[in-house]
Amino acid sequence: MIDIKKAKKAFDEYVKDYNMSDKMIYLKYHHTYRVCEQSIKISKSLGLNEEDSNLSYLIALLHDIGRFEQEKRYGTFNDIKSMDHGAFGCKLLFEEGLIRKFIDDDKYDEIIRKAIYNHNKYSIDESLNERELMHAKIIRDIDKIDIIYNVVELGGIVLHDDDSAIGDAVKISFNNNKPIKKEDRVTKNDSVMIMFAFIFDLNYKYSYEYFLKNDFVNRMFSKLKNKEIFKEYVDKLNEYIERKCNDVRK
Ligand SMILES: [Fe+2]
Repeated sequence: MIDIKKAKKAFDEYVKDYNMSDKMIYLKYHHTYRVCEQSIKISKSLGLNEEDSNLSYLIALLHDIGRFEQEKRYGTFNDIKSMDHGAFGCKLLFEEGLIRKFIDDDKYDEIIRKAIYNHNKYSIDESLNERELMHAKIIRDIDKIDIIYNVVELGGIVLHDDDSAIGDAVKISFNNNKPIKKEDRVTKNDSVMIMFAFIFDLNYKYSYEYFLKNDFVNRMFSKLKNKEIFKEYVDKLNEYIERKCNDVRK
Protein backbone atom coordinates (compact mmCIF):
# COMPACT_ATOMS: atom_id res chain seq x y z
CA MET A 1 0.00 0.00 0.00
CA ILE A 2 1.19 3.50 -0.79
CA ASP A 3 0.50 5.93 2.04
CA ILE A 4 0.87 9.37 0.47
CA LYS A 5 0.37 11.19 3.76
CA LYS A 6 3.21 9.24 5.37
CA ALA A 7 5.43 9.79 2.33
CA LYS A 8 4.85 13.56 2.38
CA LYS A 9 5.62 13.68 6.08
CA ALA A 10 8.85 11.75 5.49
CA PHE A 11 9.78 14.10 2.64
CA ASP A 12 9.24 17.20 4.79
CA GLU A 13 11.27 15.53 7.51
CA TYR A 14 14.12 14.82 5.06
CA VAL A 15 14.15 18.38 3.73
CA LYS A 16 14.39 19.79 7.28
CA ASP A 17 18.10 18.99 7.18
CA TYR A 18 18.58 21.48 4.37
CA ASN A 19 18.57 25.23 4.42
CA MET A 20 15.19 26.48 3.18
CA SER A 21 16.47 30.05 3.05
CA ASP A 22 18.83 28.88 0.30
CA LYS A 23 16.88 29.96 -2.79
CA MET A 24 17.78 26.83 -4.71
CA ILE A 25 16.61 24.49 -1.94
CA TYR A 26 13.39 26.51 -1.61
CA LEU A 27 12.79 26.32 -5.37
CA LYS A 28 13.40 22.58 -5.46
CA TYR A 29 11.08 21.92 -2.53
CA HIS A 30 8.22 23.76 -4.20
CA HIS A 31 9.06 22.31 -7.62
CA THR A 32 8.62 18.87 -6.05
CA TYR A 33 5.15 19.58 -4.71
CA ARG A 34 4.01 21.21 -7.96
CA VAL A 35 5.18 18.12 -9.86
CA CYS A 36 3.19 16.03 -7.35
CA GLU A 37 0.07 18.06 -8.16
CA GLN A 38 0.71 17.50 -11.86
CA SER A 39 0.99 13.76 -11.20
CA ILE A 40 -2.61 13.73 -9.95
CA LYS A 41 -3.84 15.49 -13.07
CA ILE A 42 -1.87 13.45 -15.59
CA SER A 43 -2.87 10.20 -13.84
CA LYS A 44 -6.51 11.22 -14.16
CA SER A 45 -6.06 12.05 -17.84
CA LEU A 46 -4.56 8.60 -18.40
CA GLY A 47 -7.36 6.90 -16.46
CA LEU A 48 -4.92 5.29 -14.01
CA ASN A 49 -6.23 3.29 -11.08
CA GLU A 50 -5.63 4.43 -7.52
CA GLU A 51 -2.50 2.31 -7.14
CA ASP A 52 -0.72 3.68 -10.21
CA SER A 53 -1.95 7.17 -9.49
CA ASN A 54 -0.46 7.00 -5.98
CA LEU A 55 2.70 5.50 -7.39
CA SER A 56 3.08 8.38 -9.83
CA TYR A 57 2.63 10.78 -6.89
CA LEU A 58 5.31 9.00 -4.87
CA ILE A 59 7.72 9.06 -7.82
CA ALA A 60 7.04 12.79 -8.27
CA LEU A 61 7.72 13.36 -4.57
CA LEU A 62 11.04 11.51 -4.75
CA HIS A 63 12.27 12.27 -8.28
CA ASP A 64 14.54 15.14 -7.20
CA ILE A 65 15.50 13.85 -3.75
CA GLY A 66 19.14 13.93 -4.90
CA ARG A 67 18.94 17.67 -5.57
CA PHE A 68 19.12 18.71 -1.92
CA GLU A 69 22.44 17.01 -1.27
CA GLN A 70 23.70 18.16 -4.68
CA GLU A 71 23.08 21.79 -3.76
CA LYS A 72 24.58 21.31 -0.29
CA ARG A 73 27.75 19.64 -1.58
CA TYR A 74 28.33 21.45 -4.84
CA GLY A 75 26.18 24.60 -4.76
CA THR A 76 24.88 23.88 -8.23
CA PHE A 77 22.15 21.97 -10.04
CA ASN A 78 24.42 21.50 -13.03
CA ASP A 79 24.81 17.71 -13.23
CA ILE A 80 27.77 17.89 -15.60
CA LYS A 81 29.70 20.07 -13.14
CA SER A 82 28.68 18.05 -10.06
CA MET A 83 26.86 14.71 -10.14
CA ASP A 84 23.98 12.98 -11.86
CA HIS A 85 21.16 13.85 -9.46
CA GLY A 86 18.90 11.06 -10.79
CA ALA A 87 21.50 8.38 -10.16
CA PHE A 88 22.40 9.94 -6.82
CA GLY A 89 18.75 9.97 -5.74
CA CYS A 90 18.57 6.25 -6.51
CA LYS A 91 21.72 5.63 -4.47
CA LEU A 92 20.25 7.45 -1.47
CA LEU A 93 16.93 5.69 -1.71
CA PHE A 94 17.88 2.16 -2.69
CA GLU A 95 21.49 1.65 -1.64
CA GLU A 96 21.32 3.61 1.58
CA GLY A 97 17.75 2.46 2.29
CA LEU A 98 16.08 5.88 2.55
CA ILE A 99 13.11 4.59 0.53
CA ARG A 100 11.72 2.70 3.57
CA LYS A 101 11.01 6.01 5.28
CA PHE A 102 8.56 6.76 2.45
CA ILE A 103 6.97 3.38 1.82
CA ASP A 104 7.07 0.13 3.83
CA ASP A 105 6.25 -2.17 0.93
CA ASP A 106 9.21 -2.94 -1.32
CA LYS A 107 7.20 -4.24 -4.27
CA TYR A 108 7.32 -0.92 -6.13
CA ASP A 109 11.05 -0.36 -5.60
CA GLU A 110 12.11 -1.24 -9.14
CA ILE A 111 9.46 0.95 -10.78
CA ILE A 112 10.35 3.88 -8.54
CA ARG A 113 14.08 3.39 -9.02
CA LYS A 114 13.88 3.17 -12.79
CA ALA A 115 11.58 6.20 -13.06
CA ILE A 116 13.89 8.33 -10.92
CA TYR A 117 17.06 7.07 -12.58
CA ASN A 118 15.66 7.79 -16.04
CA HIS A 119 13.92 11.09 -15.29
CA ASN A 120 16.94 13.23 -16.13
CA LYS A 121 18.58 11.12 -18.84
CA TYR A 122 18.63 12.09 -22.50
CA SER A 123 16.41 9.12 -23.25
CA ILE A 124 14.76 6.31 -21.31
CA ASP A 125 16.62 3.03 -20.99
CA GLU A 126 15.18 0.47 -23.40
CA SER A 127 15.03 -2.35 -20.86
CA LEU A 128 11.99 -1.01 -18.98
CA ASN A 129 8.76 -3.01 -19.02
CA GLU A 130 5.44 -1.41 -19.93
CA ARG A 131 4.48 -0.23 -16.45
CA GLU A 132 7.98 1.00 -15.64
CA LEU A 133 8.08 2.84 -18.94
CA MET A 134 4.76 4.54 -18.29
CA HIS A 135 5.95 5.85 -14.91
CA ALA A 136 9.26 6.99 -16.40
CA LYS A 137 7.39 8.84 -19.14
CA ILE A 138 4.97 10.43 -16.68
CA ILE A 139 7.69 11.87 -14.46
CA ARG A 140 9.66 13.13 -17.46
CA ASP A 141 6.59 14.95 -18.80
CA ILE A 142 5.42 16.56 -15.58
CA ASP A 143 8.95 17.53 -14.57
CA LYS A 144 9.32 19.40 -17.86
CA ILE A 145 5.92 21.04 -17.47
CA ASP A 146 7.03 22.48 -14.15
CA ILE A 147 10.43 23.59 -15.44
CA ILE A 148 8.74 25.65 -18.15
CA TYR A 149 6.11 26.83 -15.64
CA ASN A 150 9.01 28.11 -13.58
CA VAL A 151 10.36 30.01 -16.61
CA VAL A 152 7.12 31.64 -17.75
CA GLU A 153 5.13 31.96 -14.54
CA LEU A 154 7.54 32.26 -11.64
CA GLY A 155 10.69 33.60 -13.27
CA GLY A 156 12.71 31.22 -11.08
CA ILE A 157 14.53 30.07 -14.21
CA VAL A 158 15.75 32.87 -16.48
CA LEU A 159 16.49 32.40 -20.18
CA HIS A 160 19.77 34.09 -21.06
CA ASP A 161 19.82 34.58 -24.80
CA ASP A 162 22.33 36.72 -26.67
CA ASP A 163 23.19 37.47 -30.27
CA SER A 164 25.28 34.31 -30.75
CA ALA A 165 24.47 31.78 -33.44
CA ILE A 166 22.79 28.49 -32.64
CA GLY A 167 25.20 25.56 -32.94
CA ASP A 168 25.01 23.05 -35.79
CA ALA A 169 24.49 19.99 -33.59
CA VAL A 170 21.65 21.80 -31.81
CA LYS A 171 20.03 22.77 -35.11
CA ILE A 172 20.24 19.20 -36.42
CA SER A 173 18.50 17.76 -33.33
CA PHE A 174 15.85 20.45 -33.41
CA ASN A 175 15.15 20.04 -37.11
CA ASN A 176 14.72 16.30 -36.56
CA ASN A 177 12.21 16.97 -33.76
CA LYS A 178 14.63 15.56 -31.22
CA PRO A 179 15.54 16.85 -27.76
CA ILE A 180 19.00 18.42 -27.54
CA LYS A 181 21.86 16.75 -25.69
CA LYS A 182 23.40 18.90 -22.94
CA GLU A 183 26.85 18.03 -24.33
CA ASP A 184 25.90 19.69 -27.64
CA ARG A 185 25.41 23.04 -25.95
CA VAL A 186 28.08 25.54 -26.96
CA THR A 187 26.47 28.97 -26.84
CA LYS A 188 23.98 30.65 -24.51
CA ASN A 189 21.36 30.38 -27.21
CA ASP A 190 21.91 26.64 -27.33
CA SER A 191 20.77 26.53 -23.70
CA VAL A 192 17.57 28.34 -24.65
CA MET A 193 17.07 25.88 -27.49
CA ILE A 194 17.40 22.98 -25.03
CA MET A 195 14.40 24.34 -23.14
CA PHE A 196 12.36 24.79 -26.30
CA ALA A 197 13.27 21.29 -27.48
CA PHE A 198 11.87 19.79 -24.24
CA ILE A 199 8.67 19.70 -26.27
CA PHE A 200 10.10 17.00 -28.55
CA ASP A 201 10.53 14.82 -25.49
CA LEU A 202 6.93 14.97 -24.25
CA ASN A 203 4.95 11.75 -24.31
CA TYR A 204 1.34 12.35 -23.40
CA LYS A 205 -1.60 14.32 -24.76
CA TYR A 206 -2.05 15.90 -21.32
CA SER A 207 1.41 17.46 -21.63
CA TYR A 208 0.99 18.79 -25.17
CA GLU A 209 -2.36 20.23 -24.20
CA TYR A 210 -0.88 21.80 -21.08
CA PHE A 211 1.80 23.51 -23.15
CA LEU A 212 -0.77 24.69 -25.69
CA LYS A 213 -3.40 25.87 -23.19
CA ASN A 214 -0.83 27.79 -21.18
CA ASP A 215 0.79 29.24 -24.29
CA PHE A 216 4.19 28.15 -22.97
CA VAL A 217 6.05 28.47 -26.27
CA ASN A 218 4.97 32.02 -27.01
CA ARG A 219 5.44 33.07 -23.42
CA MET A 220 9.00 31.71 -23.42
CA PHE A 221 9.57 33.51 -26.71
CA SER A 222 8.30 36.78 -25.22
CA LYS A 223 11.05 36.61 -22.58
CA LEU A 224 13.83 36.60 -25.18
CA LYS A 225 15.79 39.64 -26.23
CA ASN A 226 17.02 38.38 -29.61
CA LYS A 227 13.70 37.24 -30.99
CA GLU A 228 14.72 37.16 -34.65
CA ILE A 229 17.16 34.30 -33.93
CA PHE A 230 14.42 32.12 -32.46
CA LYS A 231 11.36 33.04 -34.51
CA GLU A 232 11.60 30.18 -37.06
CA TYR A 233 11.99 27.59 -34.28
CA VAL A 234 9.11 28.97 -32.28
CA ASP A 235 6.83 28.85 -35.32
CA LYS A 236 7.82 25.24 -35.87
CA LEU A 237 7.13 24.35 -32.23
CA ASN A 238 3.70 25.94 -32.28
CA GLU A 239 2.79 23.86 -35.33
CA TYR A 240 4.28 20.74 -33.76
CA ILE A 241 2.28 21.08 -30.53
CA GLU A 242 -0.99 21.67 -32.35
CA ARG A 243 -0.35 18.60 -34.48
CA LYS A 244 0.46 16.47 -31.43
CA CYS A 245 -2.66 17.65 -29.59
CA ASN A 246 -4.69 16.36 -32.53
CA ASP A 247 -2.72 13.17 -33.23
CA VAL A 248 -1.89 11.75 -29.81
CA ARG A 249 -4.72 9.66 -28.37
CA LYS A 250 -3.80 9.74 -24.66
FE1 LIG B 1 15.33 16.23 -11.64
